[in-house]
Amino acid sequence: MIAGFMEQETLESERIALRHWQDADADILYEYAREPEVGERAGWPPHQSREESLEVIRTVFDNPTTWAIVLKETGKVVGAIGYGPSCDCALPAREGEPTVGYWVGKPYWGQGICTEALRLMIDHIRQTTAINSLISGHFADNPASGRVMEKCGFDPTGETACDSHLYGGAGKPIRVMRLVFS
Ligand SMILES: CC(C)(COP(=O)(O)OP(=O)(O)OC[C@H]1O[C@@H](n2cnc3c(N)ncnc32)[C@H](O)[C@@H]1OP(=O)(O)O)[C@@H](O)C(=O)NCCC(=O)NCCS
Repeated sequence: MIAGFMEQETLESERIALRHWQDADADILYEYAREPEVGERAGWPPHQSREESLEVIRTVFDNPTTWAIVLKETGKVVGAIGYGPSCDCALPAREGEPTVGYWVGKPYWGQGICTEALRLMIDHIRQTTAINSLISGHFADNPASGRVMEKCGFDPTGETACDSHLYGGAGKPIRVMRLVFS
């Protein structure tokens, strides 16, 4: 594994690759992100146009710790995963503790893809950084996301009320999850 946060770094497991987003992914991103059930469970509004998806690729996704999840068998992008500073989220993060986020396009739900992607990203973090814990959270009415984190070793650490920074989330309970590296 290559050390550090190198641009264009690609990670691989048995079925999937994590690679950085490209402008050419705008159509497929829009196909998944226009579906309300994807974004609303993660706290962002459904995309309204291909142009909006392109803008997200060029801004939100344009960093070394956000990846497209690609199915190796088909070469197709099926979702997104990443980690970054917790300072702008409502989670009770420890000093310097990053937060984790992910989603998978609805046609690909229930195939173990997100779990495989999260395990891959966690292995990468452990091998290439000094980070020793991760925090995340999911809306209490989105148990599938909690299950993904549990399968990857996260433990529940309580609940918090969502503030208004997440789309549709104001006042909703968030189940807080933490993974401490041993
Ligand atoms: C949450 C999400 C990322 C899961 O992706 P996925 O690739 O389908 O996840 P996996 O197949 O790896 O695992 C899903 C697990 O949740 C379980 N699950 C699914 N629906 C469930 C439900 N209603 N209640 C409890 N568990 C549920 C599955 O059975 C599976 O667990 P198992 O392997 O023990 O059977 C996907 O549903 C998604 O993108 N949702 C919208 C965006 C989102 O919620 N992002 C996370 C925000 S915190």
